Amino acid sequence: MGDEAGRDDPQKTVTVGVPKETREGERRVALVPKVIGKLSGRGAKVVVEAGAGERALIPDAEYTSAGAEIGDPWGADVVAVVNPPTAEQIGRLRDGQVLIGFLSPLTNPDTVRKLRAAGVRAFAMESIPRISRAQGMDALSSQANVAGYKAVLAAAEHSTRFFPMLTTAAGTVKPATALVLGVGVAGLQALATAKRLGARTTGYDVRPEVADQVRSLGAQWLDLGIEAAGEGGYARELTDEERAKQQQALEEAITGFDVVITTALVPGREAPRLVSAAAVEGMRPGSVVVDLAGEAGGNCELTEPGETVVRHDVTIVSPLNLPATMPEHASELYARNVTSLLELMLADGELSPDFSDEVLATSCVTREEEGS
Ligand code: NAI
Repeated sequence: MGDEAGRDDPQKTVTVGVPKETREGERRVALVPKVIGKLSGRGAKVVVEAGAGERALIPDAEYTSAGAEIGDPWGADVVAVVNPPTAEQIGRLRDGQVLIGFLSPLTNPDTVRKLRAAGVRAFAMESIPRISRAQGMDALSSQANVAGYKAVLAAAEHSTRFFPMLTTAAGTVKPATALVLGVGVAGLQALATAKRLGARTTGYDVRPEVADQVRSLGAQWLDLGIEAAGEGGYARELTDEERAKQQQALEEAITGFDVVITTALVPGREAPRLVSAAAVEGMRPGSVVVDLAGEAGGNCELTEPGETVVRHDVTIVSPLNLPATMPEHASELYARNVTSLLELMLADGELSPDFSDEVLATSCVTREEEGS
């Protein structure tokens, strides 16, 4: 006791649990050994479920040598996850516990309802406001970067043609042309990656402020004259009239490209249809569409979410959960995002979320009706 009270007082140590993810195909883990020192410095002890990092190639021993314990993560004061918990996992949570993770609050209100009923203070990573102070916590962005990069690799893999221009003794090959529809974080990364591979790139979005970002990546801006900026930096849904105009204009534009990568999303809504069946039919045989919006129904009319299909001699790829295919870096970036959010709540080994802070108030999805 004596001198050590304070730091070693069990009431002054916050425990943070890291479960093994159970979603099919998931390889990420919410916290990695690299962030444990930072959390310990804030008076938090990390408890990792045995094998939690296995699929990201992080053995338990790496966690323990960083200062974590192997044990039951669900009993911790804070539980950090990547994916929304199952009903069974929610059953293991108790009143007053904090849960942090991707919780899909807009498309999965049932999970939020159950968490609220269990008295859990749940923070959804996707609800963190897109303000500059919260950039370090922006997991949508960190994971979208992985998706944008991998989408281009998938396109190159399935294309029957080179991306770069080649000048060889056997003749010259023209560079591929790549169009990115929806230029948020994933789209910008896709444009940058396609450019690095040597393609001629073009970007399109309904938020006009994106034009300069597209040009700064050496890409052309496709202007169709439709502007639909919504709230919080996101796009709004188009009206029926705008949608018809957009489809018609895109149908004509798309036919000239070897590769089309789509990333267009509107929060809480089905993904907008940007690539019609007729547009696919108009593409050159051997071209590729990579649709990153498969989880929200897809941006291409012929997309089959999670599948790779060939229609009209065009390959349409709809990968799901691309960040899970790069578990090392995706987990590392996600872990830093979660740690930054946790740092906002931790003071002297105590958990004290201050809900006058916009970031915490907005991301806590179970608070409004607390007690009801
Ligand atoms: P998102 O994943 O919600 O959507 C992807 C893109 O699809 C967006 O650019 C959107 O405008 C576009 N889109 C939606 N409907 C469309 C349609 N019908 N046709 C064409 N394009 C359509 O977007 P993301 O990547 O999450 O970015 C959202 C916003 O957040 C952006 O403004 C981004 O710059 C901003 N942001 C701000 C940050 C900060 O300040 N901390 C950090 C990261 C992003």
